[in-house]
Amino acid sequence: MTITNQDELDGLKEIGRIVANTMRDMAKAMEPGMTTRELDEIGRALLEREGAVSAPQSSYDFPGATCISVNEEIAHGIPGGRVIGAGDLVNIDVSASKNGYFADTGATYRVAPVLPSLDRLCRDGKRATQIGIAQVSSNKPLAGIGNAIGRFAEKRGYTLIRNLASHGVGRSLHEYPGEIATWPTRHDKRRINKGLVLTVEPFLSTGGHWAADGDDGWTLYSDPRAPVVQYEHTVVATDRGALVVTLPG
Ligand code: CO
Ligand code: CO
Repeated sequence: MTITNQDELDGLKEIGRIVANTMRDMAKAMEPGMTTRELDEIGRALLEREGAVSAPQSSYDFPGATCISVNEEIAHGIPGGRVIGAGDLVNIDVSASKNGYFADTGATYRVAPVLPSLDRLCRDGKRATQIGIAQVSSNKPLAGIGNAIGRFAEKRGYTLIRNLASHGVGRSLHEYPGEIATWPTRHDKRRINKGLVLTVEPFLSTGGHWAADGDDGWTLYSDPRAPVVQYEHTVVATDRGALVVTLPG
């Protein structure tokens, strides 16, 4: 969507805060021995308490309130009987709606003890997202996001998953202007219009290039297999840069 007035911004900020708080509280509750279904139930209860509705569930009939992806799973993992273990990388992605406004956030968490190389990957994954967000401003090229992230990834020796894009959001989970690359592109001439609401969610990896389908119709895996992290925010483009709405508070 494109934000044109304060009411719209307030509505978007409210659901942004709700998904951010939900993700934060799920991460705080996560511990080894818990199943991903138990973790999802915590998220579902938090969303319900706030009067919010899971977006993957309402929009796509996803079999869970949140997406929880462990280790070799990189996105759209279905909450279920998988037990979270020490040393795991766990991605929690929370998107939801309230009063017709949608926001989307995600982050990869480490369950101690974690290899130092994965600590570095997580730290740099957050930086990649911030570098992308710094390219969001009225009238700037949409491709600037992926080009800046690509320069960072290359300099630091990482790969980027190239078929899991960022997207417009706000009045639905995935909307105008469609897919937004978080990897370098040459042919995208689109510009960011003032007030545009979009996600920035690069998938940074130590070797993965593609998200490949699994057998359950949802879960995506890294191809080739390698650790992958994702940090996602929903932002609004303004004349003075990006306004991040998925902040806890
Ligand atoms: Co998401
Ligand atoms: Co998203």
